[in-house]
Amino acid sequence: MENVLVTGGAGFIGSNFIQYLFEENPSVQIINLDALTYAGNHNNLEEISKNQRYHFVHGNICDEALVENIFSNFYIDTVVHFAAETHVDRSINNPMLFIQTNTIGTTTLLNAALKFWLPKLQKSIKQFRFHHISTDEVYGSLEPDQKAFTENSPYFPNSPYAASKAASDHLVRAYYQTYHLPVTISNCSNNYGPYQFPEKLIPLTIENAIHGKPLPIYGDGKQIRDWLYVRDHCNAIVEIIEKGEAGESFNIGGNNQPTNLEIVTTICEILGRISPSSANTPYSNLIRFVSDRPGHDRRYAMDITKIKSRLGWEPKEKFQNGLEKTVKWYLDHPDWINSIVSKEEYQKWIKINYEKRIEEKK
Ligand code: NAD
Ligand code: DAU
Repeated sequence: MENVLVTGGAGFIGSNFIQYLFEENPSVQIINLDALTYAGNHNNLEEISKNQRYHFVHGNICDEALVENIFSNFYIDTVVHFAAETHVDRSINNPMLFIQTNTIGTTTLLNAALKFWLPKLQKSIKQFRFHHISTDEVYGSLEPDQKAFTENSPYFPNSPYAASKAASDHLVRAYYQTYHLPVTISNCSNNYGPYQFPEKLIPLTIENAIHGKPLPIYGDGKQIRDWLYVRDHCNAIVEIIEKGEAGESFNIGGNNQPTNLEIVTTICEILGRISPSSANTPYSNLIRFVSDRPGHDRRYAMDITKIKSRLGWEPKEKFQNGLEKTVKWYLDHPDWINSIVSKEEYQKWIKINYEKRIEEKK
């Protein structure tokens, strides 16, 4: 891993990953290709942008000429592909954008990697790696008594987001089978931690609670996700790139499956301890049940036996501790969060997503 193209590096996991990789690998060169959509924020990398081994390219993964130039100009040997449209609720409102970025964008990157690496692959396949970041949502939803997803679970995506990610996974795998492009795929569960955009459950709850706004819970709040601290995800990705074989896929998860209601209640409890003098305590009084997400997956759980036994990876962060660190991070970074929530785009989205839900519930 010398010249690494990170796509979507200004987003939540991508920016955590770039910070992690620079800490762990002091000689690596990172090229961050990011379109800076509503979810991208280059301030996440303020310190790193001064590093001479960091290069930022503002552009779209669907731009074939731009992507091809990046491969040849920087002699890319490793791709870590995060760039995507990522919010399930937005995918219900505008599926086409998800198909464009997640499916066409991924294929554009695969084509560019193939074109640049193919003449060199005969000599050394080990020198190159295209690592695709995917999600547990491609497997669909589990019944209460069903076993956790393994790498062999059938794909059964239920939202346009999940379907677009599933399509991209299939394309990545097909480029391995057909062209022997050295790919790996990881399917990870819900991440949390610093720099997550406040449209997702945990940062939205923290931001709303601090400002005394309602804490929206979809449906009955008994849905289950498998939560993983973002730094553990970054560590798993590096392990897979360094030790995983080309053509393999790995599940990544947190072994930690609270209900949504439990998460929101725990955040209220943490805030009550850290910020007890606020006029909004007890924060749990702000909880509001709103109408459900259409096609809402009930339960995810990841079986991480493969990555644990093959690569020796397992999550390190305990959920209560990780959540406390996350709440403190948001409290300590009011400027970061204000710069997002003050934008017209953000306010418009909150209105579109929540006004109707609250109305429907009445
Ligand atoms: P995010 O929404 O926070 O960031 C996405 C980034 O991609 C942004 O910086 C955005 O500007 C960039 N981007 C979007 N479209 C682009 C395009 N066409 N060209 C270039 N850049 C573009 O996302 P995230 O939560 O950090 O997720 C990153 C990846 O991890 C995604 O592929 C997602 O599917 C996957 N994933 C996320 C989670 C999670 O819990 N957040 C869990 C599993 C997998
Ligand atoms: O499972 C991995 C996936 O996790 C990633 O692939 C996605 O990119 C990421 O966005 C995330 O998807 P979710 O839909 O699980 O995350 P979200 O934070 O949007 O929602 C988490 C749960 O909380 C889900 O059951 C819906 C619920 N929810 C969410 C919001 C925003 C609420 O009850 N209220 C809310 O206001």
